[in-house]
Amino acid sequence: MADKTIDELCAALEARREKAALGGGAKAIDKQHSKNKMTARERIDALLDPGTFVEIDEFVEHRCTNFGLDKTMFLGDGVVTGYGTIDGRIVYVFSQDFTVMGGSLGEMHAQKICKVLELALTNGAPCIGINDSGGARIQEAVDALSGYGKIFFRNVKASGIIPQFSIIAGPCAGGAVYSPALTDFIFMVDKVGIMHITGPQVIKSVTGEDVTSEQIGGARAHNATSGCAHFFAATEAECYAQARRVMGFLPSNNMEEPPFKETGDDPCRTDAALRELVPTNPNRGYDVRDVIKKVVDNADFCEVQEMYAQNIVTGFARVGGRVIGIIANQAKFMAGCLDINASDKASRHIRICDAYNIPIVTFVDVPGYLPGLNQEMGGIIRHGAKLLYAYSEATAPKITIVLRKAYGGSYLGMCSKDLGADVVLAWPQAQIAVMGAEGAANIIFRKEIEAAEDKAAKRAEKIEEYKESFANPYRAAQRGFVDRVILPEETRPALYQALVMTESKSELRPKRKHGILPN
Ligand code: HXC
Repeated sequence: MADKTIDELCAALEARREKAALGGGAKAIDKQHSKNKMTARERIDALLDPGTFVEIDEFVEHRCTNFGLDKTMFLGDGVVTGYGTIDGRIVYVFSQDFTVMGGSLGEMHAQKICKVLELALTNGAPCIGINDSGGARIQEAVDALSGYGKIFFRNVKASGIIPQFSIIAGPCAGGAVYSPALTDFIFMVDKVGIMHITGPQVIKSVTGEDVTSEQIGGARAHNATSGCAHFFAATEAECYAQARRVMGFLPSNNMEEPPFKETGDDPCRTDAALRELVPTNPNRGYDVRDVIKKVVDNADFCEVQEMYAQNIVTGFARVGGRVIGIIANQAKFMAGCLDINASDKASRHIRICDAYNIPIVTFVDVPGYLPGLNQEMGGIIRHGAKLLYAYSEATAPKITIVLRKAYGGSYLGMCSKDLGADVVLAWPQAQIAVMGAEGAANIIFRKEIEAAEDKAAKRAEKIEEYKESFANPYRAAQRGFVDRVILPEETRPALYQALVMTESKSELRPKRKHGILPN
């Protein structure tokens, strides 16, 4: 047989590429589109800078012969993998292709995902996974399960070293959910992404409960109720834009600083409107996001877990172009008190910021921990401990701004000086005390109040006396627990100065394998 010409060989390669690009075929692609879902490759194009995607392993095929699977072969084996850029920075991606055997995961499919995870880790670049799969490929049995195990192992190995995002753009069920759960951020697309351990039928047969997939696994359920997801998107396009935005706040790996960006907003800008935003009456609510937006560059605040545990606000922003991570008590919800969910939410965000060298900025206005049987029996002790642990463990710069209330244990918990805050600033209306003036006066002046003829007048007088003496920032400043008492309008320049001052911070701790995190 005559040797083939180079043109024939190239044509064969091109034909093979075209076949690979079609995934499960035109009919399956139409079905995917009819479900309001993009294909695996369209998703990658929407996520990465145009024209930057480089595919690898496009000709990988499974090698399973069970149940006649050897007659069902698809180039790429149901997952598209490779790398490209987001805002010019390299990221690795994998995108499961539902048009190929429902995006089910077998041995070779898993091997492709493991390869990009390893490449991402070795080269110090983020990895983003787009999940759309029927789960373990049933025909591949234990080989499929082993594939998941290998992915989990690599997710954990890479955790805190390179950013890992999971986008849920289709079904993700059973043990398959644990790969996303092991990554840094989960993005879900409304009415498209579903994530649950056991589906509605299994739940019905085991517990008798009637539930829908959306109820137990939808984007809203996981963003607002379970806290398993971090970002909610109405559409796929919005989801990829969100992922690109969040990536812009993170370094490529834990050895780099987060990306500086010229924002054009003067870091020394003062803002008189800040004086009016926080009522001096400690019982009145306000939206702490208004304060954050006045302080950060161009009011650009990227909120994380916006729908969950709304009594605490977490997110990313920039000040003078430098990335900061934000934790803020939200007076508008449950008076900003700390509870189980808020502690979990905040402590995770602190650990993410610390892992990626992002200065942690804490806005404090906290009345205390939420009382109640549910909280105590739900383990507020161990959940609340996570917050203390995360702040104390963090060696990234820690800057705390006390806006108003900072009472008792919750004062300590919100990154007080004693938990290692590098800079503590306080506004003039700050009240740093064991408790609010009314509660305190009722306890320590009880006898005097009861002995008085006009008890109400006496109580009011004693509350005032307590406020004068303790419900202010000056007692704490006297002891050095507050470094500076600032005018509200000075917050942005003071924060910027603190960021510059702590830029070269280096804090070494005794060597250990790892701490024992309260759970
Ligand atoms: C093999 C699968 C598959 C799977 C889907 N397919 N899931 N093939 N293994 N797990 C195939 C279907 O046979 C079908 O093939 C094609 O993919 C598209 O599936 P449809 O059912 O037509 O799609 P749709 O109606 O959209 O339903 C999607 C679905 C459903 C809800 C995901 O396919 C489904 O329930 N699949 C099984 C889910 C499951 O139980 N997986 C195991 C989970 S346990 P054809 O040839 O007809 O097009 C698990 C354990 C992980 O994953 C453990 C890790 C530790």
